[in-house]
Amino acid sequence: MVSTGLSAMSFYTPHRYVSLDTLAEHHGIDPAKFSKGIGQEKIAMPGHDEDAVTLAAEAARPIIDRFGTDDIDTVLFATESGVDQAKSAGIFLHDLLGLPNNIRHVELKQACYSATGALQMSCAYVARKPDKKILLIASDVARYDLDSSGEATQGAGAVAMLISTEPKLLEIGPISGLFTEDIMDFWRPNDRRTPLFDGKLSALRYMKALVEAWRDYRANGGSQYDEFDRFCYHLPFSRLGEKAHSHLAKEAEVAADMGKALPGMIYNRQVGNSYTASIYLAILSTLENSDEDLSGSRLGLFSYGSGATAEFFDATVVPGYREYLAPERHREILNRRKAVSYDEYIALWHAVPEAEGAMTSMPDEAVGRYRLTGIDDKKRIYTDRQG
Ligand code: CAA
Repeated sequence: MVSTGLSAMSFYTPHRYVSLDTLAEHHGIDPAKFSKGIGQEKIAMPGHDEDAVTLAAEAARPIIDRFGTDDIDTVLFATESGVDQAKSAGIFLHDLLGLPNNIRHVELKQACYSATGALQMSCAYVARKPDKKILLIASDVARYDLDSSGEATQGAGAVAMLISTEPKLLEIGPISGLFTEDIMDFWRPNDRRTPLFDGKLSALRYMKALVEAWRDYRANGGSQYDEFDRFCYHLPFSRLGEKAHSHLAKEAEVAADMGKALPGMIYNRQVGNSYTASIYLAILSTLENSDEDLSGSRLGLFSYGSGATAEFFDATVVPGYREYLAPERHREILNRRKAVSYDEYIALWHAVPEAEGAMTSMPDEAVGRYRLTGIDDKKRIYTDRQG
């Protein structure tokens, strides 16, 4: 079988965050509820001129700079905070990234799961066309209603990935375990900017989906629990990942080794939920926060998207993988961020009201290369500061 998987990964998150201590102080609750109870520290806050498209462009740029665009014939954009109901978010990247015209774009949606579906389809595609590569981007702004129980689990970020044969970073295994059930644990009707959700139900169904997807994975000939060196989970908040890790160990009738899952949670605690990008951020966090050389290590991966579809799959770290990572760049993105006050957070949270039939200019708040300059009579205008 042809070896397929990830040859590059790159991450971006906005340069502002609100500390969960600030949120706790405002609501008059013990900060430990957030730091320990849900295991989160910061919520990434995009500016008004940042969205899933600009975050995606920032994440993808280093991959384009290093590998060029010649072999890429497909861009798959996984998001649940897309900016248009018809046009794929990826097409807005076309000029921003200097992509060639002989290329296809598709946007995929299934809550936080869709990037994993896209990854599996990408691996099958490049196996058929080994001279081609796919640029897969998972990008989301996770925004919940103010004062709701979901408020502490907001966040934003994008992970861009290059999918190819003979991967340089991670080889994706051919065996998957799948599970779908039709439930209303988290959803966003077309007329809403924020989701509706049943938090307790969502956490319960996440655990059920984990066990069912794992059982399917094992039934399909997947590895045994103790053959894995690290585990990465979809992380709406890191405490759920810890619980998932214990739950899976119980199902496998072994003692949970939390050290195999915690490295994957380091970036997430600083960023918050990034929906489709979350499990891929966990993979990056695992690879970039280990002093040990992980070459040849086996990763157990759990992807969950409310509604709900889940998948348990695996990956093997390719020797020499470190050459294809950028831990210094990623840490700089995280470390250079600025905390905002509660009032600044509220101002960022609210959208700029859109003028009917006219141009709405966005305040110049992003520090990156790309920004949403404005919306002109419902047409989104993005700019490249270097373009
Ligand atoms: N010190 C330490 N821990 C404390 C504490 C304190 N002072 N006060 C409370 N806690 C603990 C609680 O005991 C609880 O722990 P357990 O879950 O282990 O019992 C934890 O903090 C959270 O407390 P609550 O359950 O009271 O919190 P909440 O009602 O405010 O809601 C939430 C928490 C359900 C996660 C909520 O933030 C939410 O609904 N978020 C959005 C939905 C979500 O993320 N669901 C996850 C699964 S769905 C999914 O994965 C898709 C996706 O990305 C959305």
